Parts: sequence; C-alpha cells; structure tokens
Amino acid sequence: MKPLFSWMTTFLWMMLFASNLADCFDPLDPNGNVTVNVDIHRWTSNGYVATVTIQNYYQYRHVETPGWQLGWTWTNKEVILSMTGAIATQQGNCSINFQSAHSCMTDPVFVDLMPDAAAVNRTENCCRGGLLSSWAIDQPNSISSFEIEVGNLGHGLSYLPLNSTFMGPGPGYTCSPFADAPPTVSTVLDARREEQVFRTWKSICTYSTFTVNKAPTCCVSLSTFYNPKITPCPLCSCDCRPGNSNTLECVGDDLVASSWPGPNNVDNLLQCTDHMCPVQVHWHIKNNYRDHWRVKLTVSNHDYGVNFSDWNVLVQHPSFGQSLQSYSFNSTTIQSVANSGAQLIDDVALFWGLANYNTELLQASEKQLGSVTTEILLSKDQSSFTLNNGWAFPRKIYFNGESCEMPLPDDFPALPDASTAPKHTALLPPLLLLLLYTMILQVVLGL
Ligand SMILES: *[C@@H]1O[C@H](CO)[C@@H](O)[C@H](O)[C@H]1NC(C)=O
Ligand SMILES: *[C@@H]1O[C@H](CO)[C@@H](O)[C@H](O)[C@H]1NC(C)=O
Ligand SMILES: *[C@@H]1O[C@H](CO)[C@@H](O)[C@H](O)[C@H]1NC(C)=O
Ligand SMILES: *[C@@H]1O[C@H](CO)[C@@H](O)[C@H](O)[C@H]1NC(C)=O
Ligand SMILES: *[C@@H]1O[C@H](CO)[C@@H](O)[C@H](O)[C@H]1NC(C)=O
Ligand SMILES: *[C@@H]1O[C@H](CO)[C@@H](O)[C@H](O)[C@H]1NC(C)=O
Repeated sequence: MKPLFSWMTTFLWMMLFASNLADCFDPLDPNGNVTVNVDIHRWTSNGYVATVTIQNYYQYRHVETPGWQLGWTWTNKEVILSMTGAIATQQGNCSINFQSAHSCMTDPVFVDLMPDAAAVNRTENCCRGGLLSSWAIDQPNSISSFEIEVGNLGHGLSYLPLNSTFMGPGPGYTCSPFADAPPTVSTVLDARREEQVFRTWKSICTYSTFTVNKAPTCCVSLSTFYNPKITPCPLCSCDCRPGNSNTLECVGDDLVASSWPGPNNVDNLLQCTDHMCPVQVHWHIKNNYRDHWRVKLTVSNHDYGVNFSDWNVLVQHPSFGQSLQSYSFNSTTIQSVANSGAQLIDDVALFWGLANYNTELLQASEKQLGSVTTEILLSKDQSSFTLNNGWAFPRKIYFNGESCEMPLPDDFPALPDASTAPKHTALLPPLLLLLLYTMILQVVLGL
C-alpha cells in the first residue's frame, strides 16, 4: 500500500513537471510580458519624434543589473538625430550627412541612462540603469521610457522597425514583430481632456527559460518540528560537486573546483555543496496550533560574489488562499491559473524584502551564508489542512522568477507513525501469541 502510494505521488509530480515543460507560458503568471510601445507624437520636416515605453508586466520577474537592452532594425534609411532618457550603444557611420546625429546604425541597441544623468538628458521614467521592477512588487518602477528624434525620412512617413530584441539583462526573451496598435491615449488638464498620439507600434516580449536552456540556480530543502529528518536539496540540483579537474575553486569543507555564471556572466565563487546551487530556499514547518500553523522560510545565498538586490520568492501552496501574515518579508498573494484550466486560483504568494531591512540578499562570506528569513503565520482551513502526505510543503518555489528544484515527495520528512505505532505494538503481542499458539498446536499436537 505505502510503496504504491509513494510511487504514484512521484509519478504524479513527474507528470506535473512534464506538463509544465510543455507549456510555453508560466502558469503562475500567464499574462506576464514586457510590452514595448513606440508612440509617434510629433512629425518633423524629415521624420518624427517618438516616445518608447518599456513596461514590465511580469508579476515577479524583474530586470536586474546591468539592466535591459532594447534593439531593432530600421527598414528605411532612418537616423536617430537625438535621444533623451536613454542612449544608443553605438553611433555607427554618421560621417556624410548627419555628423551630429546620435546614431546612424541600421540596427541600434538602446540602454537606459544611469541615475546620475544630467537633467537635460532625462525624461519621465528614465535613468535607473536599466532596472525594471516587477509588476506585483513595485508598479511605478516597472516602466522605463525614452524619447527618440528620427530623421532622414520623407515628411509624414514612418516605417515599422523590424526584429525587435529585448535582453533583461540576459537572453530568454522573444519579441513579437512591431505592429500597429490603437494610438496611446493620455489624459491632460486634470483628466478633463484626452489626447492621443499619431501612431503607436507595439511589440510584446515574453520570457522562456527553455529558450535559454539555463541550468537551475535554486533549490528547496525541507524540515519539520515533528521529524528530526532534514530533507536536503536534491543531489546535483544545479550541478554536481566538481572533481579536481576544473579550473575554478568552490569554497567549503573540501576545496574542490567549480564555477557558476552569475547575472553578469562572470564566474563566481560558490560554496561547495551537494546541490551546487547559488540560492537555497528552506521551508520549515515550525508550529501547529489549533487555528493556525507557522512556517519559517529562509533564503540562503551560497555565492561568494553576488548580492541579490530586490530579490523575490514565489511560493505556491494551497494554504495561501487563507490569510497569511509574514513578519520579516513583505508579501502579497497573486492570482494564477489552476493546472486544470482557466480557473483563477489564489494559492500563490510572493515574498520580498522589507525596505531598509532585507531587500538585499548578501553574498556568502567565509564566516556565514548570506541569508534572509521570516516566519509566516497561516490560518487553517480545517477541511483541507493536514500534516499528512506532504500537504504542508510547498508545491512550487521560484526565486527571482526562476523555478527552484524541489525534493521528490518520497524524500519529504514523514509524520512519525505516532497514531499507528502504539496500535501496532499493542496489536503485535496478541498476534504473535496467536501465531506461536498455532505453531505449538501444529508441532506438538500434530494438527
Ligand atoms: C501583456 O500583458 C498585459 C498585462 O498583463 C496583458 O493585458 C496583455 O494581454 C499581454 N499581452 C500578451 C500578448 O500576452
Ligand atoms: C559611411 O557612409 C558613407 C555613405 O553612406 C560611405 O560613403 C562611407 O564609405 C562610409 N564610411 C565607412 C567608414 O564605412
Ligand atoms: C546630455 O545632453 C548634452 C547636452 O544636450 C549632450 O551634449 C550629451 O551628449 C548628453 N549626454 C547623453 C549621455 O545623452
Ligand atoms: C530579421 O531576422 C530574420 C531572422 O533572424 C532575418 O532573416 C532578417 O534578415 C532580419 N531582418 C532584418 C531587416 O534585419
Ligand atoms: C555585497 O554587499 C556587501 C555589503 O554591502 C559589499 O561589501 C559587497 O562588496 C557587495 N558585493 C558585491 C559583489 O557587490
Ligand atoms: C511593501 O511593499 C509595498 C509595495 O511595493 C511598499 O509600498 C511598502 O513600502 C513595502 N513595505 C515595506 C515595509 O517595505
């Protein structure tokens, strides 16, 4: 009975995993995307002035340092005469007619200005070094915009750029071709009047881990108050403990070698572990009260060379439909699509650091891991709450939008057989006696 049950749960979890692989979108954030709008709001004698807006609609995927990069290919002989709020990374060949132009590249790439940019070069929503917050955490900072003055076109003409690309900051985003969209409308004069731009182009960029084929960077470990067993991260979650042949070292009890390409694509020194993940999320079931239960959630950084600023952790657990209180992290519940279909469910909670307290997940040091931790108090829905069968463990955890490797249900710390064990021991002697009695009867009496 028991092995069959475990085998079935393992199978079900594997099915779940496989179906997620097949999905081209994240079921926990089905509407997430980065939308790029080009709003032409002024014609000039030989071109136009446009505002380019990058809006991050991802609930929990942000763009971290070194920031976004947006690119496209002009289809005519467009030249960017001037720009504010961002820069093109290359000027290109402007030698003949446009010596003072900002960029004459046919495939310009744009990056944000840094926060110290001069006032004359700034626009609204610019100059954050390309950082974009996620939608669920910080909407005002989930938008970036800049202005371009485009020349070298006949009066009143404009041609859709092609092949838009978005890096946030690494690869993984695929953008739809720019297409005409209903002109962007904005309100002016205390919202008593609406004005619209002349022309709007839109491109939608979506992220997929599978297009980058990235190795996991995060794993989950579990423990409980009722079982001394600690379930570690699955072995080799992100990589296996390397042999001595590698060039870089990892730091730990036995100095062996490894490296991990961090956000800046630099090789970082990792702590030697059996999972070799830079980030570990630990879920500890701490207390079981009458109406509530308490979890301790800890996020640890095993990397000696990376601080994660504005980190976030997403946890899926059926209990988050009830009220939850997290003490040392900021949190919100977000709606996701149930695996079965289009029904919205409320069982996903997003956690992030408190301002001026733990928004930074610091790098590990020789003495300790960088870590942030909180206790979470959850109310119980008596009809569903149970410590049995791993129900109280999370279904899925993401760190900064990347899925973390979960232990298999077979490895979860089990409830001690407290309820059944005494019954067994109480039952066993009579059974044994009966057996002995039968054997004695058989042997001695020859029955
Ligand atoms: C992009 O995100 C916005 C906001 O969630 C949503 O309204 C829109 O439908 C999305 N677009 C696509 C193509 O997914
Ligand atoms: C720059 O462009 C002009 C005309 O478009 C061309 O004549 C010139 O050779 C180019 N210079 C270089 C260095 O490519
Ligand atoms: C900022 O503006 C000044 C004056 O318009 C200009 O000379 C300079 O190149 C601009 N800097 C950037 C980074 O755009
Ligand atoms: C756009 O990308 C496609 C595929 O990568 C390429 O074949 C095409 O030449 C590109 N178009 C332009 C104008 O660069
Ligand atoms: C991480 O933050 C600590 C403390 O603010 C700082 O000393 C360290 O240099 C930072 N590390 C990196 C890689 O930025
Ligand atoms: C929690 O997050 C919200 C939304 O980003 C923010 O307005 C608030 O200041 C945060 N609270 C703390 C204590 O950091």
